[in-house]
Amino acid sequence: MIRFIGTDETLALRSEILREGIPADYCRFEGDDDKYTFHLGYYHQDELICIGSFHKQPKEGYPGEGYQLRGMATRLDYQGMGIGNQLLNFSIVYLRGQKINYIWCNARINALRFYLGLGFEIISDQFEIAGVGPHREMYLKIQ
Ligand SMILES: CC(C)(COP(=O)(O)OP(=O)(O)OC[C@H]1O[C@@H](n2cnc3c(N)ncnc32)[C@H](O)[C@@H]1OP(=O)(O)O)[C@@H](O)C(=O)NCCC(=O)NCCS
Repeated sequence: MIRFIGTDETLALRSEILREGIPADYCRFEGDDDKYTFHLGYYHQDELICIGSFHKQPKEGYPGEGYQLRGMATRLDYQGMGIGNQLLNFSIVYLRGQKINYIWCNARINALRFYLGLGFEIISDQFEIAGVGPHREMYLKIQ
């Protein structure tokens, strides 16, 4: 089941999957608690197994209202089962309802195929995010 969750609920999975176990409190993003930010969580039998955060943040050069997807992660033992795909599809339907035009993200190179499978396109050359690794910017027009 997919639910809207608070920032604090995302921190343990962010730490475990995205930040190699650094303390949860260091896994906060600027804008996490902004008025228009929301976080989604996928629960399986009361356990949180997949998260994604959505910050209202335009991408220069793209028309309309945009959201940046951040902190997308699925617990290791549930990866590759279509759960991340379901969570992102939920966000797309929700954001369409909010009259948002596009979603973009800084995608890790190892997650490119995942985003391409959802219809995202690559919009930048490869670049490095310090301490995390190589990324490409990706963009999905949703209406
Ligand atoms: C990237 C990530 C969030 C994707 O989440 P996920 O829940 O594993 O995603 P899905 O299962 O929906 O899709 C992953 C793969 O499983 C495949 N898949 C989807 N449904 C499937 C199913 N029912 N059975 C088997 N495989 C399936 C998808 O085709 C996809 O393959 P691809 O990557 O080759 O295109 C997750 O792998 C993760 O947390 N990775 C580590 C952290 C990370 O890199 N996060 C992204 C930061 S930008």
